[in-house]
Amino acid sequence: MPKQEKICSKHIRPIWLSQNLKVIKVIDQRLLPHRFMVAELKSVDDVINAIKETCVRGAPLIGVTAAYGVYLAALNAEDKPASNDFLIKECKRIKSARPTAINLTWAVDKVLAETLKAKTSSGKIKAALNEAERIVETEVENCKKIGENGLNLIAEISRRKDNQTVNILTHCNAGWLACVEYGTATAPIYAAFEKGIDIHVWVDETRPLNQGSRLTAWELGKQGVKHTVITDNAGGHLMQHGMVDIVIVGSDRTTRTGDVANKIGTYLKALAARDNNVPFYVALPSSAFDWNLKDGLKEIPIEMRDPDEIRYVQGFDQGAIKSVLITPESSPAANFAFDVTPARLVTGLITEKGICKATEHDINNMFPESKST
Ligand code: MRU
Repeated sequence: MPKQEKICSKHIRPIWLSQNLKVIKVIDQRLLPHRFMVAELKSVDDVINAIKETCVRGAPLIGVTAAYGVYLAALNAEDKPASNDFLIKECKRIKSARPTAINLTWAVDKVLAETLKAKTSSGKIKAALNEAERIVETEVENCKKIGENGLNLIAEISRRKDNQTVNILTHCNAGWLACVEYGTATAPIYAAFEKGIDIHVWVDETRPLNQGSRLTAWELGKQGVKHTVITDNAGGHLMQHGMVDIVIVGSDRTTRTGDVANKIGTYLKALAARDNNVPFYVALPSSAFDWNLKDGLKEIPIEMRDPDEIRYVQGFDQGAIKSVLITPESSPAANFAFDVTPARLVTGLITEKGICKATEHDINNMFPESKST
């Protein structure tokens, strides 16, 4: 296991293959920041459970894990007589692991299509692995470009403020842990930090699983980026007092018209940003677009997760990770995991191809190839 102090986006990824290429290794994100543990995924069931239980999470990483899952299915299909049928069934199971992030379906379909082209089982295994690895490297490259494109926005604010601190608010974790390297929302942040721009990040804790206070804070801390964890409800207050210059979040699924599904609470940040004239940007690779959808509110499936994620909170106490009940024993809870921010509240989309408005027209212009999808 790598030493924690060496961990940063340049040194380690949240996912990699074992040397014998038979096991997917992932950082178990449920335990961070208190424990750094590597989980081993050896079967399609392991992959599905890891995605369901948020051992791996974040739209691009879910896609990448699922892509490797198809490769594991091909490995397991070796001795099955009708391996194409087996593969198709396994892919269906993988796709059902979580409903909101479109990257999951996108990645599985891509790897499956390449795998089915091969005639022999060894050919299928090779094709699945090649395509999964291609997806990984493309996501890394795309996140890097998102960083380069988004950097200009932060640099411009810094210039306008005479190099005073640029305050960026982010929600959930859209960092390298959620992707493979750089992250989406964090990519411009890391790029600005590397350029020496004075930045500070307000990190929404992001109840109930606290991806902000656990994961984003951990990532930023490891990189030395100034940050402060705030409650999910603090953003509006900070914006009213001029303490936020820009909001940058990620996306699990964005329609071709620019409606954005992201972690629950994103919409409220967008409303507060609009009321206070704070620019609200969404950083996403093209794998997070759902080219088939036009109306995010009506069409994007919103995941309902276990109510116990709300009723209990997990923390670190006397050397152990503990879970404690924070509601009355008998109170029910409803765990809506994502919400949809309508395109009209989004200032712009930061993609690997550049920044565009969240409109069908501008998105089409930036991704003309999507018309044929
Ligand atoms: O439930 P999670 O942790 O998978 O949700 C993750 C998010 O909402 C991220 O903001 C989103 O996937 C964008 S990741 C680059």
